[in-house]
Amino acid sequence: MKVPFLDLKAQYESIRDEIETALQQVLDTTAFAGGPFVEKLEKEFAIFCECEFAIGVGSGTTALWMALSGLGIGQGDEVMTVPNTFIATAEAISFCGAKPVFVDVDERTYNMNPNLLEDAITPKTKAIIPVHLYGQMADMDPIMQIARTHGLFVIEDACQAHGAEYKSRPAGSIGDAGCFSFYPGKNLGAYGEAGAIVTNNAELAEKMRMFRDHGQAKKYYHSMIGWNARMDGIQGAVLGVKLKHLPAWNQARRKNAQLYNDFLADVDYVIAPAEADYAKHVYHIYAIRTQNRDALIIALAEKDIFCGIHYPVPIHLQDAYGFLDYRTGNFPVAEKCAEELVSLPMFSELTESQIEKVSYEIKRFKQSKTLGENGKRRILNWPRELA
Ligand SMILES: Cc1ncc(COP(=O)(O)O)c(C=O)c1O
Repeated sequence: MKVPFLDLKAQYESIRDEIETALQQVLDTTAFAGGPFVEKLEKEFAIFCECEFAIGVGSGTTALWMALSGLGIGQGDEVMTVPNTFIATAEAISFCGAKPVFVDVDERTYNMNPNLLEDAITPKTKAIIPVHLYGQMADMDPIMQIARTHGLFVIEDACQAHGAEYKSRPAGSIGDAGCFSFYPGKNLGAYGEAGAIVTNNAELAEKMRMFRDHGQAKKYYHSMIGWNARMDGIQGAVLGVKLKHLPAWNQARRKNAQLYNDFLADVDYVIAPAEADYAKHVYHIYAIRTQNRDALIIALAEKDIFCGIHYPVPIHLQDAYGFLDYRTGNFPVAEKCAEELVSLPMFSELTESQIEKVSYEIKRFKQSKTLGENGKRRILNWPRELA
């Protein structure tokens, strides 16, 4: 039995008829760029996020960049975020002309550590981007409090957190704006590229709507310099079908996470993900921590179990951000995450027997053959050798 990291086909099969009907409607109406399917999705997604406005755009990266520039962030400004995220979070800051300033994360949730924020604030700081990593929201109350005290905007990077909650409030609804990615592998994934910004700020929403459509409210009358960042009609229609299923899919992910937790409970060389008291985690990623991560991934792959690493190099140590002059040791928790976290197979359609197989092989790995130095095979006495 193979256990893929993700199985988009299984999900498609479960909604094939609905998707084909929706796609046919787009073809019949030729509403390919923006249009009624995107508008409908925007209304429904705003309700889902308990926000007044949702603006569909081309990707999560674009959503972040547009929200930052829409709030006036640009050249000479600093924006605080975390180093253990997908590089898009930092790229959006850079593309506004601002500088990313990193703060380390909490060792239990792997999310922004609010206790470290105030020390990183300078007169140039304009905004904070907490990233709701793996489907669990950052600790928003202290983040919002610090932001309000210092007059900073908060933009939630909710690209991995569709339907996640903080004290019963949905991801995207707490900051000045929330940004979502609908990349195909996300909990709510398009059949191509797409993203959205949600906000309760009417002025920002109006600006974003115009900006994504070449700065025009009326065709060929441009009141601002904008961009083409529209969501396309096919993605609007696909996402409209999938949004209805999202609560059930998230529930299935939560159930799968619980099964993993139960199976792995007695494995002392693995740290399972922790769900914070304030959170409803939607397990976009189910990542465990272990000190022999790379050997474990190889051993599981040999058993047809496929894992991922999110992310192997924290952003402050990426070549692209070398000019910021960060060093190894600057963010010890994020660096430990990069070395020790492994993302196990996780998707709604994962079966109990697949989860059992993954967990069994993780347990068996303790005595199994692993790659030693020089690529030679040896028996590893785990976890004693790792201590
Ligand atoms: C945390 C985070 N931020 C931003 C993005 C960028 O989204 P997109 O790939 O839709 O541009 C992603 C997507 O992988 C993400 O995981």
